[in-house]
Amino acid sequence: GAPGWTTSAEVVVVGSGIAGLTCALRLREQVDRVLLVTKTVLSAGSTQWAQGGIAAALDPEDSPQEHLDDTLVAGVGLCDEEAVRVLVTEGPVRVRELVSLGAEFDRAASGEILLTREGGHHRDRIAHAGGDATGAEISRALIEALNRVKNDPGIEVIEHALVVDLLTGDAGQVCGVTLHVIGEGQHDGIGSAYARAVVLATGGLGQVYSSTTNPSVATGDGMAAALRAGARLADLEFVQFHPTVMFLGEGSTGQQPLISEAVRGEGAFLVDDAGVRFMQGLHPQADLAPRDVVARAIVARMRETGADHVWLDGRHLGKDFLEKRFPSIVARCRELGYDPATQLLPVAPAQHYASGGIWTDLAGRSTLDGLYACGETACTGVHGANRLASNSLLEGLVFANRIADDIAERIGRGELTPATPVPPRDDAVLLDASRRLDVQRTMTRGSGVVRTAEGTRAAYDALVALLAEQSTAIPTTEAWETTNLAQLGLALTAAAHAREETRGGHERLDFPERDDAHWLGHLHHLRTPDSV
Ligand code: SIN
Repeated sequence: GAPGWTTSAEVVVVGSGIAGLTCALRLREQVDRVLLVTKTVLSAGSTQWAQGGIAAALDPEDSPQEHLDDTLVAGVGLCDEEAVRVLVTEGPVRVRELVSLGAEFDRAASGEILLTREGGHHRDRIAHAGGDATGAEISRALIEALNRVKNDPGIEVIEHALVVDLLTGDAGQVCGVTLHVIGEGQHDGIGSAYARAVVLATGGLGQVYSSTTNPSVATGDGMAAALRAGARLADLEFVQFHPTVMFLGEGSTGQQPLISEAVRGEGAFLVDDAGVRFMQGLHPQADLAPRDVVARAIVARMRETGADHVWLDGRHLGKDFLEKRFPSIVARCRELGYDPATQLLPVAPAQHYASGGIWTDLAGRSTLDGLYACGETACTGVHGANRLASNSLLEGLVFANRIADDIAERIGRGELTPATPVPPRDDAVLLDASRRLDVQRTMTRGSGVVRTAEGTRAAYDALVALLAEQSTAIPTTEAWETTNLAQLGLALTAAAHAREETRGGHERLDFPERDDAHWLGHLHHLRTPDSV
């Protein structure tokens, strides 16, 4: 339909996690007018939930090369080595900039930033804040930095703004977004923001599944808009399931409490119902093997014993240490009736991270001119089939800076000229919000951690049928979110079906082995629009 209100900026940044905030702040120093939009409030995304920390070779004994080696191993052959090199070499500088900006990391008495270890790392290289509240501290520091400049005419923030679709010019270049805004003064209802470039930093798609560590806003809105606009998405089938998510019962849906890998980093370990430490002997790094290895081992053990969860034992760490090092986790466990100092914690894998996303190059450019993607929304190639612990905040930070610099340079060169959008296609689907649970159940059953050809086929057919329903949905944020979840779920399931091997986050029961001959050969990555 016809756009309601309109606004314009040189660049629109969508999303306010570490990626979006960093990018908007850096752009503001270099271009005339930046518009930052976010779906609810600035602090609501996944960043503020990040516990363990941010990985970087900050220790003089450590090196970017060792960080690179661990990242490549975790990614099971599918990382883009050049992208990883960018991540690990620029990472330490960017983390120090975050410190200068005001982020307060935990420090030793000597003043050095404390570093811990998580799965897949061979060194202590995870910086953390508030013990287990790293993301909240980073989010706080970035939002304060934004507040310091918010009266500056060079930057505008619109909260409660869902990105609906991308606007494209007649040459296919992206020249803005349509937004659905709820009650923000002059911008209310459906409108358009025109820009020379759009940065999607909309986070992950955890809500595609019934149980996830992601907050309720993680509905893949940016990825879905990019998919509809014909951008290339890659590696969608590589969903990461975190091994140690509090198990609250089979029927518990939505965001579930995460027990950080750093708890195992400090010495906690997994046991089954019989008290057996099943990770020992399974992998040289045992309980600190890469995340996909641990998650699949848990699922296998649950299958063998018929249990619906395993246990995390951190009792030997002692009450004082646990309360000091993991204050948020301990408090949350106690609210739920478990004391980690005296009791085992029931845990099972749950969706945690989208390793794939909108394909980008090293400057964060997607396959559509004018469209950039950053953070979990993007697929820069740094994660391959399985992201290494605590590389996600780092990716958002490093690539946000590269994107801002690339856009500013191109605008300076007279590129990214403003375009007039062509009218949007009129074949939009809109699912009723009440179908969200159907999508989540379908995806969990068919495209979860354990997959088969039959299961992915059934999930695919169910989603096609759902999307074909004649809908009379009222265009609310929830209806758009549900549509995004179904469309992304379909693309993800197509890739999950096509990938006839077990690699990274998932296990294919019908193809239980890695198949390097095929899948590190010509097939390598599955990409939209070809893969759907
Ligand atoms: C955690 O604290 O275990 C999560 C870290 C991550 O997702 O990288």
